[in-house]
Amino acid sequence: MVLHLQKTFKEPVGLCDPCYWNNFIHMLHPGKRITRQEAGSKVLSWEEGRLISDRLRGKKPVSQDTPSRAGIMDVLVPFLQLLVLLLTLPLHLLALLGFWQPMCKTYFPYLMANLTERANKKMESKKRELFSQIKDLKGTSGKVTLLELGCGTGANFQFYPSDCKITCVDPNPNFEKFLTKSMAKNRHLEYERFIVAYGEDMKQLADSSMDVVVCTLVLCSVQSPKKVLQEIQRVLRPGGLLFFWEHVAEPRESWAYLWQRVFEPTWKHIGDGCNLTRETWKDLEKAGFFNVQMEWQPPLFKWLPVGPHIMGKAVK
Ligand SMILES: C[S@@+](CC[C@H](N)C(=O)[O-])C[C@H]1O[C@@H](n2cnc3c(N)ncnc32)[C@H](O)[C@@H]1O
Repeated sequence: MVLHLQKTFKEPVGLCDPCYWNNFIHMLHPGKRITRQEAGSKVLSWEEGRLISDRLRGKKPVSQDTPSRAGIMDVLVPFLQLLVLLLTLPLHLLALLGFWQPMCKTYFPYLMANLTERANKKMESKKRELFSQIKDLKGTSGKVTLLELGCGTGANFQFYPSDCKITCVDPNPNFEKFLTKSMAKNRHLEYERFIVAYGEDMKQLADSSMDVVVCTLVLCSVQSPKKVLQEIQRVLRPGGLLFFWEHVAEPRESWAYLWQRVFEPTWKHIGDGCNLTRETWKDLEKAGFFNVQMEWQPPLFKWLPVGPHIMGKAVK
């Protein structure tokens, strides 16, 4: 639905952007015409945007004043968490004894290689649209320096325009094999290096050395989104862009959020530290970027507890 709107209105998209409000009004009242001034006077907050999105998806809006439901959830969550924990006890024991982490670091790249292909099929047009903006950022050298943070298998390479000089950062060295394969498939790009490091501390990279940072499905897994965003700010040149695509928490009052909380402790082990209930849009909005634009997207795979996504860009 949002894709349709973007195509119709060709406006910059972002829940913080007044044009987005305009788009939503058109969605809700197709016949209604709204002037730019009228639209410009309404800034859509994240919550408003989400409520409208829910409505468009046919979801019943969840009332904000349902303390009884919140109370029931708070009682249910620990109980259900314990149940899931008991059902997956061997996994938790292995984790406790320190055996799970090395195993996870080995199998996770295989899992990601599989999921990435499926996700890219679904997201192809969206990712292409997002990353097409990179070509406008060429420096005086005619090249765009791009940091792929939490690069994984190199899922985004195929969407980048040529003339990009890519630096990859990921703490898991087991991704290198998959990364090399992606590099061989995407010879239109120039590859600088693969650095094994955490996004919280990228001392190998100089201040203001990047035109672009790309961060997809990473802020859910990092130890500290705040520190990572500070590091992104440091390595980006003024006017440089952060492109992001992240899965985030379901609305707090929803049953989907309850299930996310229930599965999170177990999912964290399966998904190499992946958190299901991060409200990453808040971190992005607080990170001190000059301008943050994002759009909300429904969950990609119904069979996973991974929630909706946010996609967008932030300007340093
Ligand atoms: C779900 S995968 C996503 C990979 C890839 N960006 C994609 O879109 O397919 C999460 C990636 O974040 C990496 N990661 C985890 N913790 C990190 C951290 N603190 N700093 C940077 N990358 C991290 C993982 O090793 C993994 O490659």
